[in-house]
Amino acid sequence: MAQNKILILDFGGQYNQLIARRVRECGVYCEVRNFDSMTLDDIKAYDPKGLIFTGGPQSAYGEGAPSIDGKVFELGIPVLGICYGAQLMAHKLGGRISSAPTSEYGRTVVSIDNKDGVLEKADDENICWMSHTDYISEPPEGFIVTAHTESCPVAGMEDRKRGFYAVQFHPEVNHTQHGAEFLRKFVLGVCACEQDWQMGSFAEKQIKEIREKVGTGKVLCALSGGVDSSVAAVLLSKAVGKQLTCVFVDHGLLRKDEGNQVSEIFGPDGPYDLNFVRVNAQQRYYDKLAGITEPEAKRKIIGEEFIRVFEDEARKIGKVDFLVQGTIYPDVIESGLGKSAVIKSHHNVGGLPDHVDFKEIIEPLRMLFKDEVRALGRELGLPDYLVNRQPFPGPGLGIRIIGEVTEAKVKIVQEADAIYREELEKAGYGSKVNQYFAALTNMRSVGVMGDFRTYDYAIALRAVTTTDFMTAESADLPWDLLQTVTSRIVNEVDHVNRVFYDLTGKPPGTIEFE
Ligand code: XMP
Repeated sequence: MAQNKILILDFGGQYNQLIARRVRECGVYCEVRNFDSMTLDDIKAYDPKGLIFTGGPQSAYGEGAPSIDGKVFELGIPVLGICYGAQLMAHKLGGRISSAPTSEYGRTVVSIDNKDGVLEKADDENICWMSHTDYISEPPEGFIVTAHTESCPVAGMEDRKRGFYAVQFHPEVNHTQHGAEFLRKFVLGVCACEQDWQMGSFAEKQIKEIREKVGTGKVLCALSGGVDSSVAAVLLSKAVGKQLTCVFVDHGLLRKDEGNQVSEIFGPDGPYDLNFVRVNAQQRYYDKLAGITEPEAKRKIIGEEFIRVFEDEARKIGKVDFLVQGTIYPDVIESGLGKSAVIKSHHNVGGLPDHVDFKEIIEPLRMLFKDEVRALGRELGLPDYLVNRQPFPGPGLGIRIIGEVTEAKVKIVQEADAIYREELEKAGYGSKVNQYFAALTNMRSVGVMGDFRTYDYAIALRAVTTTDFMTAESADLPWDLLQTVTSRIVNEVDHVNRVFYDLTGKPPGTIEFE
């Protein structure tokens, strides 16, 4: 039986990924596509059980405003319009849009007028997240008004007979009370989707498809020990067995003991059969990084060197047809749908260009969100500590050492970081904080130890809470925990005499230091 699908048409909204995540959380598959990337025939061929039109920054009457063929409303497919999507629906079906006398941004009290449709679970006065300057001043014929606010006469409207639903607020945002339930009602109730998006059946289907694609070819996978590449590697190994080789490049910028831990799990003595190859390229990296202080230059060198090492390994293996990458859906959405400024040239170990002579790239996770990759990992039998790992950047400690990277500095930051992680986990903060690490500043200052003057480095500690890693807050760690960590670091790690805790959020900081 064909899979149930919801198609989300993106009109430039900030929260489109969230909409997709909420739909997936209902156990229903969905994809986000640009509003102008699909013709009416494409939509029909895609065969969605429902359509969602996202928000967007434009005004529906504005010049060049994103629009859609009005015949989409004749396909017999239920539609949910959100914010701009709601206004577009009203506009296309003969309603009226006006510029609101007062814009509504953020938390807004919405009065619910009718709960027989998607707003079934709403409170009478429901707090919702708003972000709009235009509003629907007159709903199209056939619609009833289901919600309003003090300054917005149509905060919700529905034409249940035709299956059209619209909300001016953002149900996908956590700040909207019962928002997830509104989406759930649309997806499971109105569109009558079955909850057939499960990681178990996804794994089976992927394994079958990969086998067909690869045939008898050889497959190479860059394995860093991070969640995405580990899940991709194990999935591939289930599909093609001995035809797969996994290459783990130890660039000398890993956390303390990490190289050995990754080798233990994925090497020949571990539970997986991955043809695991560890390349000890530490010196190669230290040589290349000598004297380099500029963050972007360091990132580029580390990324480039990775490719060179990888090419050398590919040549040793002989003709390799397929390369596995651990690309996930947010990468696809971000690179395909929006244009944002480059803050850092992120280097994903899986994100290789096709420098090496590969017939095809396999990206088995490209349609999954991070939490789904973790669920798939569990499905494939990967242990919890692996699937729940916090992110670790491709350039590793190279971007947690401010300024020049040397082997001696790597050792300092490794030791300090190990102490920090050990104490944080012991105090029960390991699962409460989303990312935490120590970084080595290039600041040296005077101290005194055992009656001697010291002139040594300062370690910076970072701990952040975040859901999407795009914004973050500094974690509120207890003072005594920070004191324990500080005293252990200055006592146990050579060449450190001071410890700082970074209180900066993102923005204006970033999570990593470089
Ligand atoms: P920033 O520092 O940009 O980091 O706030 C956001 C998240 O991305 C991780 N990060 C990277 N991940 N390659 C990666 O795979 C990279 O080059 C890279 N740089 C940053 C960072 O650890 C945080 O989780």
